[in-house]
This record gives sequence, structure tokens and C-alpha cells, in this order.
Amino acid sequence: MARYRYPAIPESEVTPRELFAQRRRFLKGTLTRGAALGMVAAAPGLLLSPTSRAWTETLSGQLSGELPSRSLAGEEALTDRKDVTTYNNFYEFGTRKSDPEVYAHKLVTDPWSVSIEGEVGKPGSFALEDILAGQALEERIYRLRCVEAWSMVIPWIGFPLAELLKRHEPTSRARYVVFESIFDPDNLRGQRRSIIEWPYREGLRIDEAMHPLTLLAVGMYGERMPNQNGAPIRLVVPWKYGFKSIKSVVSIRLVEEMPTTSWIDQNPDEYGFYANVNPAVDHPRWSQARERRIGESGRRDTLMFNGYADEVAELYAGMDLNQHF
Ligand code: MTE
Repeated sequence: MARYRYPAIPESEVTPRELFAQRRRFLKGTLTRGAALGMVAAAPGLLLSPTSRAWTETLSGQLSGELPSRSLAGEEALTDRKDVTTYNNFYEFGTRKSDPEVYAHKLVTDPWSVSIEGEVGKPGSFALEDILAGQALEERIYRLRCVEAWSMVIPWIGFPLAELLKRHEPTSRARYVVFESIFDPDNLRGQRRSIIEWPYREGLRIDEAMHPLTLLAVGMYGERMPNQNGAPIRLVVPWKYGFKSIKSVVSIRLVEEMPTTSWIDQNPDEYGFYANVNPAVDHPRWSQARERRIGESGRRDTLMFNGYADEVAELYAGMDLNQHF
């Protein structure tokens, strides 16, 4: 039986029809092989609040000035920034798509540190400014298609997770990576309810984590990451359904055994570990063959691995993707 797991979304949360009508239209075209990673056209400079401190200054130092205007990306148009920042899943703020934008100011992102532990030669807790030091982020813009229950094209600013992991020297026993989001129920109203078991937890196999398309993103649209999109640092795994892309990451742990995740704990029949975008594998309750692109009317065919098959299919060679959903 074909199946795929995705956090249950009430019908009321599905993109309202009127959203489509108002949006600017996307250009025709598909991301081509090799074009998945690429520069985007010039974007506005980084906006920083006057109260910004250490890591925000580090980021600002790297993003100041003109961003490159050459484009190596595919031809699909970017989704409107407004849609990307007002229609979100971030259950720490509540389950409505509008909740994250409304309550995101409660997320305290400065100071921020990320612990890197488990099967690594150099474990520890690291200030975000140290993690970002030396990253040439002005050259690190990735225009990627992302699929959730809907799809978008977003110009992320970030760097491959592999670069960070390598710095901490994974041991030969490191087979999986576990990520955890911030836990702060005083400020994150959603965490006062047991929507899922907090903190939000996700995982990747080590080869997925080391793949160059797996990013740690710290910004989008030429700006620092908006809180509602997972500030100050989040995962982006563009060939997987959106729930794998964990936001506001505070912990990265390399482990030997396949970990469970928040969504698997919630409903193991609907959510699996891999969550690869796959039009041939349906969710138990609905087809996954087509998707709504925010800004377009109608639906478009969902692509295998979200269009990144040339880049990532070999990671799953020989695996039954119906079973490993
Ligand atoms: N990360 C955390 N910490 N909490 C969440 O609720 N939601 C996930 C993922 N990461 C979520 C999260 C889901 S279900 C999706 S679809 C994407 O974030 C949404 O990302 P976006 O709001 O930036 O589009």
C-alpha cells in the first residue's frame, strides 16, 4: 500500500482559494539538473534591528553590500516573500497558518547557541556567531523549490550542513543525525499544549545530512531569517516534505541508531523517517501526485524527489520507497 506521512492539516488550513487569484504568476519552467543550487538575482540588503547583537552582526557583516546578481538557478519564479512569511507551520506558536507571524516576536533568538554532540570528535555548545564566522554567505544563496502541502520557491541564505558536521569530525559510528528545536514554553505558546511531544525533533541519515543540498539556512530574500520561518537557524532539505526542515535548531546530535522523530511518535502510520517527496507514494488519506504552488491557480504535478532526483536518487538506490516512506 502506497503511503506517505505528513502532519495532519485540517481542511480549514489548506491554502484559501483567494490566495491564488491575487498572487503574481510563476514563469513556466523546471529546475534542471545542476541548477538546483544557484545564485538568485540581486536581493535587498540585510535588515537588522538596532538592538541586534553578536550573531546578527556576524551575519550582517557577511551580507552587507550588493548581493550577486548572476543567476545559476532554474527559471521558476520566486514565491512572494509575503506568502512565505505569513503562511507557516511552526506549531510552537500554534496550529493556525497565521499564528507564527502573529506570535513570532516572542521567539528569543539572541543570544543563540547550537550544541553538537554524540558521535563527533569535537563536541560542544557553540555560539551562532562562531558557527557563522568565515561563511561567505553573500555567495550562499540557494533558490530551491520546497514542497509542503503546498509548494513554494524560496531564495534561502545558508550553507551546507555538511560543512558544519565535518568541522566537528563525525566518528565512524555516526549513522544518523538528530535535530532539536528550541524549548521555551514561557515564550512559545504552542508548547504549553501537547500538540506534539516537545521539543520538535527530526532526523536524517548521515549521507542525507552530508548531501550538499541539505542546508542550514539563516536567511531568505536577502534578509535574516524571519522568526516565523525558523530564526535564527533552520534546516532545509528540499527533496523531502516540509516537516523534515526543522526550525530554530538548538541541538544536533550524531547517533548510531535510527532515531524516532516528533511526527513518527505522533502517528507512525502516517509519518515515516524518510519523507521523500514522491508522487507515487500516497498519504494514507490522500494522493500526493499533485501540489498547489502558492501563487498559481490549479495544481501542478509533484516531481519525484521534488525535482532533485538527479541529485539525490542514488541515496535511495535499492530501497523500497513504499516501505521506507
Ligand atoms: N520546525 C519546528 N520547530 N516546528 C514546526 O512546527 N513545522 C514543519 C517545519 N519545521 C515545524 C518545523 C512543517 S510541518 C513545515 S511544512 C515547515 O517547517 C514549514 O516551514 P515554513 O513555515 O518556513 O514554510
